[in-house]
Amino acid sequence: MNEIETKIKSLREELTRHNYNYYVLAAPVISDREFDDRLKELEQLENTHPEYDDPCSPTRRVGSDLSKEFEQVEHAYPMLSLGNTYSEDEVREFYDRTARLLNEPFEIVAELKYDGTSISLIYEQGRLKRAITRGDGARGDDVTANVKTIRSVPLQLMGSAYPDTFEIRGEILLPWAEFDRLNKEREEQEEPLFANPRNAAAGTLKQQNPAVVASRKLDAYLYYMLGESLPAGTHYDNLQIARTWGFKIPDVIRKCHTQGDVFDYLAYWDAERKKLPVATDGVVLKVNSLRQQRNLGFTAKSPRWAIAYKFQAERAVTRLLSVTFQIGRTGAVTPVANLEPVLLSGTTVKRASLHNADIIKGLDLHTGDYVYVEKGGEIIPKIVGVDTAARSILMGDEVRFITNCPECGYPLVRPEGESAHYCPNESGCHTQIKGRIEHFVSRRAMDIRMGPETVEDLYNAGYVNNIADLYTLTLPRMLRLERWAEKSAQTLLKSLEESKTVPFERVLFALGIRYVGETVAKRLAYAFTDIGQLQDAGLESFMQVNEIGERIAKSVVSYFAEESNRAIIDRLKAYGLQMAVDEASLTARSEKLNGLLFVISGTFSRHSRDEYKAMIEQHGGKCAGSVSGKTDYILAGDNMGPAKLEKATKLNVGIINEDEFLNMLGE
Ligand code: IVH
Repeated sequence: MNEIETKIKSLREELTRHNYNYYVLAAPVISDREFDDRLKELEQLENTHPEYDDPCSPTRRVGSDLSKEFEQVEHAYPMLSLGNTYSEDEVREFYDRTARLLNEPFEIVAELKYDGTSISLIYEQGRLKRAITRGDGARGDDVTANVKTIRSVPLQLMGSAYPDTFEIRGEILLPWAEFDRLNKEREEQEEPLFANPRNAAAGTLKQQNPAVVASRKLDAYLYYMLGESLPAGTHYDNLQIARTWGFKIPDVIRKCHTQGDVFDYLAYWDAERKKLPVATDGVVLKVNSLRQQRNLGFTAKSPRWAIAYKFQAERAVTRLLSVTFQIGRTGAVTPVANLEPVLLSGTTVKRASLHNADIIKGLDLHTGDYVYVEKGGEIIPKIVGVDTAARSILMGDEVRFITNCPECGYPLVRPEGESAHYCPNESGCHTQIKGRIEHFVSRRAMDIRMGPETVEDLYNAGYVNNIADLYTLTLPRMLRLERWAEKSAQTLLKSLEESKTVPFERVLFALGIRYVGETVAKRLAYAFTDIGQLQDAGLESFMQVNEIGERIAKSVVSYFAEESNRAIIDRLKAYGLQMAVDEASLTARSEKLNGLLFVISGTFSRHSRDEYKAMIEQHGGKCAGSVSGKTDYILAGDNMGPAKLEKATKLNVGIINEDEFLNMLGE
C-alpha cells in the first residue's frame, strides 16, 4: 500500500470511529469542526485519487443518486411479525407454554418495542451491503442509499471478529425532537403534518432524494441478528457483541429468569418509556437461547419463541358532532372533527384532526357516531375508530369530503400523489386572498401592525385586494372609512413605511409562496441574492440549493411564471421594499459557528432572542428547540428553564451567557 492509500484508509477508520462515538455512544471526543476538517481532507484525497474509491467511505453518507423507484429484493429470511397482546394473562400463558414446550430451564430477554419502521441490514465482509424494508415480508424495497445517510448505521464495522455475512434487523426511528421540528416546519409551510413519528420515519425512508433523508436525522435501533455463523449461542450475547462492532443496540434490554422479572420490566417501562427520545409502544419478550428458539420454531406468521406486549394507549369515547373544513392561505383544505368535550390524559379534547379524505373514508364516519379518540404520542388527538354497535337507528349522515370550496364554491382539486385537497381559485377565493394578506403582515414576515379584523375591513372596503395594495393607503383615504381615527390610521401608515426596511429574506417569506417557509426563504435569498435572479432561475438551479427539493423548486418556478405575481412584485419593488440581500449582511456572513448547534433559553438584555437566532444562522450555526446529545452550546439568558438546565448538566453541554457568545463572534 502506498502512502496515499494508507492515509485514505487511516482517515476512513478514524472518521468511522468518531462517527460511532458521536451517533451511537453520544459521547464525541473531537469537536464537530475537527471532524469536518478531517472529512474534507479525506474528500479531497478521494477526489484526486478516484482509484481508491469506496462506496462505504464516510464521505458517502449523503448519497446523490436519484433513483426513481426502489428495486425490490427478496429477503433471505422472511421478515415476520410478532404475536401481539395487550393482556398480562396472555403474557403469563406465553411464559407457561414456553416452559412446558421446552421442559428445561430457559431465559427470557425483555426489550422495548420501538414504534418506527422495520429494516433489515445486510453486511458482507464487515461492510453494509444492502438495506431492505419489510415490504410484504417476503420481498422489500432496497433503500440502501437512504439508510446510508443515517449516521448511527455503520457503513464499515469495527474490529474484525464479525462473520463474513449476516443480517441485523431493527427499527428506523425519527426521534420526538426531530418529529416536532419537522412538523413545525411543515406547519409553517402549510404542508400536511405527519400524524406520528412512525409515519414520518416510513415516509422519509421512501423519499427519492437521499439529501432530504439526510436532513431529517433518522436513527436506527437494532434488535435481531440472523445468519449462518453468528458469534454466540444466545440472542442477548449476539446483541452485546454486535454493539462492539458499532451498532446501536438499546441498552435497556434485560435477561429475565422468572415471570416476576418479566412483569417488573413491563411495569417499569410502561411509565419510564415516556422519557425516552423515541417512540415505543410495548415490550418484546424473546427466548434467549438460539437452540431453544429453533426447537420452538415458527407458526405461519410469527415465531413461537417471542411475543409483543403492547401498552394501552390513552383512549376515550365521545360523540362526533360535526366535521368542518378549513381553507388555508395556500388553498389547502383541512378537515376537523368537532367532538363532544371529553377528558383524555389530563386535557379536555374538543377537536380532532382527520387529516384528509382517505382517512375519513377509511373510518366510515357518520355524524353522531360514538368515536374512539386516542392520544398515542400524537400531538393532536385522532379518531382511531367508530363504535358501530352504538349507532342508533337514527344514524347520522355519512361524512363526505367536500367537493367545492366552502368559501368560494370553486371545485376542489387533489394533485396527483398528494393526500390533500386544494381550492385552486387563488385569485378569486376571498379566504385565500385575506389569508395571504394576513400572512404578509404577520410578525415574522413584514411585521405590519394590523390584525385579521383590519385586513377584513380594508378588504371589504375595496382598498386592499392584494398585498401590493397595502402600500396605496393614505391618511385621507383611511379617514373616509368608518372606525378609523387619525391616530390609529397614522400608526398603521408608519408601520407600513417601516416595513420597507424589512430584509429581503423576510419579504420573500411574506410573499406566501407554497412550501416557502422562513428557512427556505432564507436559503433562497442568500443563494440568489435578488428577486430578478430568482424570477429567472430554472428548476435545475433551485434544486442545486442545499435542502431544496423538486417539490419546493416546482412551486417557486410556477409562482414566478404567473403574470399576476410578477406584476405584484414589480409594484412592491416600486414602493421601495427590499428586493435584494443587502451588501452588509452578505459580507457579515461568516463560518465562525459553522456546524455548531445552539439552543437559546431565557431572556436577554443586549439583543432579542430572534436577533441571537439570526446571528447564529448568519455565522453558519444552527438553532434547535430542545437540548440533546447533539447540542454544542446553550446560549443562556436570565430565567433559563430548569428542565433545560438539568438536561444540559446531565449531557455535559456547554452553557454560555450573552457576553461569552458575543465574544465568540469577536463583537
Ligand atoms: S423482533 C421475528 N424486537 O415489531 C421477530 N421486533 O410485530 C422479529 N419491533 O417487525 C422482530 N421493536 O418492526 C423485535 N425489540 C424488538 C422490536 C420489534 C419493534 C417491531 C418490528 C417487528 C414488529 C413485530
